[in-house]
Amino acid sequence: MKLAGKVAIVTGAASGIGRASAIAFSREGAKVVVADCNQAGGKETVAEILSAGATAHFSCVDVTRENELREMVDETVARWGTIDILFNNAGIVLVKSVEQMEEAEWDRVMSINVKAAFLATKHVAPVMRRNGGGAILNTGSIASFTGQVGTPAYSASKGAIALLTKSLALDLGRDRIRVNCICPGITDTPMLREHLGHGAEGEARIRSRLSRVPLGEILRPEDVARAALYLVSEDSAGITGILHVVDGGLLAASEFDKPI
Ligand SMILES: NC(=O)c1ccc[n+]([C@@H]2O[C@H](COP(=O)([O-])OP(=O)(O)OC[C@H]3O[C@@H](n4cnc5c(N)ncnc54)[C@H](O)[C@@H]3O)[C@@H](O)[C@H]2O)c1
Repeated sequence: MKLAGKVAIVTGAASGIGRASAIAFSREGAKVVVADCNQAGGKETVAEILSAGATAHFSCVDVTRENELREMVDETVARWGTIDILFNNAGIVLVKSVEQMEEAEWDRVMSINVKAAFLATKHVAPVMRRNGGGAILNTGSIASFTGQVGTPAYSASKGAIALLTKSLALDLGRDRIRVNCICPGITDTPMLREHLGHGAEGEARIRSRLSRVPLGEILRPEDVARAALYLVSEDSAGITGILHVVDGGLLAASEFDKPI
């Protein structure tokens, strides 16, 4: 087992990529804190992990609130002794142009997608340092590399998390804390449906995007979770400060005049 005896916190683990990652980490022996503001979804993730005989605990947190994150960290250390892995994965998308967007909406996207990683790292890094090291993984996106139509706040947040990752890798490397960023492409989660729309119109948009993906298929959250497992396990010892793309090849192309 790749994570035997490890303690992991996964934010946004009530759904999608976070849920699949929490399950993947638990299968490899980690005790997992399923952290999310969605109680029902978080408890479902925990139930699935427990029913497979692994260990998990639900922590109801809004990742933008420092006091809730601090409490989660303290409770985790009290319950399981340490924290080895932090996956800052909670995120939201907002499909609005800057002219349609309220200031509070911009702030909310930046708070959940960027500030939360700063706050969680602030409270987890001292625990990891005392423990002799750890692995922090942030969730970026293909929008960490390129602009994306209609989601300026989201794209700005995903660009920011990429360079927060590299900067933290420099600051925490001597403490043997690795910091990396996983950058998913088109992945089948509730967020994707919210981004591209529901029903026939949404399906048509997904098909149109997939026509530019070399592997030609929508990614499953489990595909991203497998790469996340690699980045938080000893399999990636020696790797820090990278942006690890899991996109079916989408970013490989520089011209899109014809479907692949
Ligand atoms: N699905 C994709 O195609 C795709 C592509 C690139 C990047 N991503 C990124 O992957 C990550 C996970 O997204 P997903 O697709 O699994 O979406 P999702 O909507 O299925 O999951 C996001 C989770 O984050 C939680 N969350 C949101 N705000 C929160 C808050 N304030 N406090 C605590 N939890 C909060 C939600 O409750 C939800 O459980 C996000 O960072 C997203 O930007 C997704």
